[in-house]
Amino acid sequence: MCGITGYIGKNKNAINVVINGLESLEYRGYDSAGIAYVLNNKVNIIKEQGKIVNLKNKIDFNIQSNLAIGHTRWATHGEPNQINSHPHSQGKFTIVHNGIIENYLELKQELIENGYKFKSSTDTEVACTYMDFIYSKNNNILKTLNEVSKVFRGSYAFGIICEDDLDNLYALRKTSPLIIANGNNENYIASDVPAILRYTNKYILLDDMEIAKINSDKVVVYNQNLEIVKKEILEFEGSFESSMKCGYEHFMLKEIHEEPSVFKNTINAYFDGDFKNIPDLTKYNNIHIVACGSAYHAGLVGKYLIEKYANIPVYVEVASEYRYKHNFYDKDTLVILVSQSGETADTLASLRMVKEKNIDTLSIVNVVGSSIARESKYVIYTKAGCEIAVATTKAYLAQISVFALITMYLSNNKSKEILEEINNIPNLLEEIINIDYKNISSEIYQNQNIFFIGRGIDYSICMEGSLKLKEISYINSVAYQAGELKHGTISLIEKNTPVVALCTDDSLLEKTISNIKEVKARGAKVIFITTSDIEGDFYDFKVNVPKVNELLQPIITIVPLQLIAYDVAKLNGCDIDKPRNLAKSVTVE
Ligand code: AGP
Repeated sequence: MCGITGYIGKNKNAINVVINGLESLEYRGYDSAGIAYVLNNKVNIIKEQGKIVNLKNKIDFNIQSNLAIGHTRWATHGEPNQINSHPHSQGKFTIVHNGIIENYLELKQELIENGYKFKSSTDTEVACTYMDFIYSKNNNILKTLNEVSKVFRGSYAFGIICEDDLDNLYALRKTSPLIIANGNNENYIASDVPAILRYTNKYILLDDMEIAKINSDKVVVYNQNLEIVKKEILEFEGSFESSMKCGYEHFMLKEIHEEPSVFKNTINAYFDGDFKNIPDLTKYNNIHIVACGSAYHAGLVGKYLIEKYANIPVYVEVASEYRYKHNFYDKDTLVILVSQSGETADTLASLRMVKEKNIDTLSIVNVVGSSIARESKYVIYTKAGCEIAVATTKAYLAQISVFALITMYLSNNKSKEILEEINNIPNLLEEIINIDYKNISSEIYQNQNIFFIGRGIDYSICMEGSLKLKEISYINSVAYQAGELKHGTISLIEKNTPVVALCTDDSLLEKTISNIKEVKARGAKVIFITTSDIEGDFYDFKVNVPKVNELLQPIITIVPLQLIAYDVAKLNGCDIDKPRNLAKSVTVE
């Protein structure tokens, strides 16, 4: 939800490194930003409401520092103003924080009773104050962090500076992501890989409640018993360039254009005419798919395909509901968790709930080594690379590609025909990505209500297309089962109401056209996206998408919807990569 980063080293100016890192993490939240840097044995804090550019305008970059931490915020506690922005400091401690301390109010009361005063309304200031409070009793930083790690309930990734030890940067995490990256005579902390990729692709992952003591030469990690633990050095597969815009106006457009290679890389990792690197899933006769947002929409596609072609019942639920519902399991139930970031709090909580019931779990995740990936019994990584735009495109496409693979695996479909179709998908994607949809987006961008209708698997695609449009163009849109519209919602259709109608299933074409004519008769402006070559006066715009095997059809059909959403948002002058109120990874509940 927020982005934190930090640097300690001899080679670079910590201020530059931290600000560059924050700019790479801005997709994680951009309500405010701040930096704390050490100069002449003093900790200095600069922080500002709004985007990082506002913070940069307050910084003198001629100042040289070798230790700094930074934060870009998606507000959870307290409005997104300057006082509530991070870093927060109290006594000897200055910290940045990603996550939520759920018991912060009871801790705040205890601290007030011990004479502390507060400036902000944040949980993070309470956490910082509690560190100072415990430290004032034991005068030992490691013991302090170990003790608070057990007191704080909720989620946290902290970057910590203590003025009694300015030769070290400390880090501590539970549930919220935090990586420690290793350079030569310098080390970094960050919420996510893009913040450090320009410097190094080597990093280690902290496990829950581990403490890292970091200086320019070494990183020492302690477990909950304050014993030193050895950590594996990981290498990120992508490059810094691959996580930057590379000439595209927006990350979202770049990432859509990466979809042909993302599909190829994802498929090739698990199928080359035979299956590989897929766990044995054949014993399961009941599947639950749990996810949020677009990942949930990918799960709906998975449900449709697995039920139809593998003949296994599938139950799909949003994670924030699933974790509180009464769900039904048996020994052959498999719970599949889908998550691009691998850190979504509700999805992670659902995973942990299911594991407590000793149910097998498979996660479909994009970020290697993320919490959901590490805590699942099995993991199938999507190969989408770094996805920076808050609105997911290539990662969603990779998720539905994995569901096609899983369906093929469960139905033992490795026919020559499907392999040939798979091999042709990247070319077809290139074709439809390079079609200009601006004649459509220019017709609809000024509308305030837009409808998406479809039947069967097309309805699942409509849900994703509608979310894309909503989240980046701020236009209210809704996806509806085409056959359901006349049971109420059609009352909202009036002259020029845009209706995007999908039909890629020939068996549903006639009925879908009837539904289209119903809205057309009431004045709707119809955008008909279909594999059919039928012509008629029941639509205003028609987009023909190539007909492919139904397992792969969603991969094709979603692309025009992604690009139309992009064009509409651009016409509306929206911040496409960083839409208001959103963040890339929702690590709070
Ligand atoms: C997608 O465009 C949204 N940004 C959002 O719905 C996202 O899919 C959802 O928050 C789940 O994120 P995850 O895949 O990282 O778990």
